[in-house]
Amino acid sequence: MPVTAVVGAQWGDEGKGRMVDYLAQDADLVIRFQGGDNAGHTVVNAHGKFALHLIPSGIFNPFTVCIIGTGAVVNPATLLEEMGALEAAGVPLENLWLSNRAHVVLPYHRMVDGLQEAARSGARIGTTGRGIGPTYSDKAARFGVRLGDLKRPDYLRQRIALHLEQKNRTLALFGAPPLDLDDVMETCLGYARALGDRIVDTLPLVQPAVRAGKRVLLEGQLGVMRDLDWGTYPYVTSSNPIVGAASAGAGLPPSAIDRVVGVVKAYSTAVGAGPFPSELDDADGERLRLVGAEYGATTGRPRRCGWYDAVAVGHAAWLNGFTSLAVTKLDVLDGMRQLKVCTGYRLADRVIDYVPDTPDMAEVTPIYETWPGWDEPTTEARDWDDLPKAARTYLHRISELAGVPIEFVSVGAERDQLLKLELPA
Ligand code: IMP
Repeated sequence: MPVTAVVGAQWGDEGKGRMVDYLAQDADLVIRFQGGDNAGHTVVNAHGKFALHLIPSGIFNPFTVCIIGTGAVVNPATLLEEMGALEAAGVPLENLWLSNRAHVVLPYHRMVDGLQEAARSGARIGTTGRGIGPTYSDKAARFGVRLGDLKRPDYLRQRIALHLEQKNRTLALFGAPPLDLDDVMETCLGYARALGDRIVDTLPLVQPAVRAGKRVLLEGQLGVMRDLDWGTYPYVTSSNPIVGAASAGAGLPPSAIDRVVGVVKAYSTAVGAGPFPSELDDADGERLRLVGAEYGATTGRPRRCGWYDAVAVGHAAWLNGFTSLAVTKLDVLDGMRQLKVCTGYRLADRVIDYVPDTPDMAEVTPIYETWPGWDEPTTEARDWDDLPKAARTYLHRISELAGVPIEFVSVGAERDQLLKLELPA
């Protein structure tokens, strides 16, 4: 592998967690490079079923070093809960490290996220309410608190005092009560006591591993359509899920990344607001939601479901330079009479094959190809030849439209419900 990035090619929830869990079986290092506990990476393996929000999905391999990278934002309160749940399931956490440069999601970030979302009234983004946007805003405005600051109480007090007054003014605008410096400090010092030993400069872990050609996985959160720059702004998250951000977020040069696996669901889903051209508001959409158990792993919200959108995946393929695709949840399509694939958009009197800017994206209507479905269950398939012919044709078409070979196909949530395909030489 040496350095492999695993990133989302749609609206998030593509199944990156299960792919990282699988690939981490022989990885030396896994780094989560962006996002926060807005993620919900579902992993099913011998330890049980988990929705990981922050901890890299490589944590189940006791020999893999797992890093929450500099590009991530960390809510210590939810991280501690997540660590507790894993420990209770017998998952060892000795190899979990947090970058001292990653920013901290503080309780007021969550408050502000909720207040700002409410103030958007009719133009809500549908955020997860985890304080992600306000934390990245403070980072960019250079008011942020970093994990390393938690270990220096005097410096931390200065940092928090610096912007607490400002935060309190913002809270007052929303009619919310002010925060007290001592209370915030006490919360932060509690975090430091619980997590301090794991907060480190991560470069001494990353550099030698990359230099020695160790197997490194870079785990992204969300997908290209929620990318801050290339997604459907403003209906996006506040970081960049594309591989271009993996270098900065993990702390290695872009040229070190030699493989990029784009994870795509065999259909489309999205949570939150914003344009989603191939969304289905009918029995097929309802069926995808039911059979695919399409409910948010973080918020429990029903996901919006739709046909596979090859335009969105083409956008992702260009921006990420995928070396292969992992197609997940193929089994959810078993038993569907016919399948549609969106191959272009109609925008006024034009046909386009790219993702336009958001106001136009909100106006497009999808252009579909129709493909036959299959009746046979695919859940037991482990080789290409085990798949029904119609499923192979559908996968061929997905690959052809993306211009990227398929390396993995998942046919169920269990670790072994995965086909590993030969890539063209
Ligand atoms: P935020 O990242 O919580 O600010 O939310 C911004 C947008 O990203 C909203 O549409 C959310 O629903 C969406 N989002 C955030 N995290 C996830 C995720 O893990 N899966 C799917 N959508 C997400």
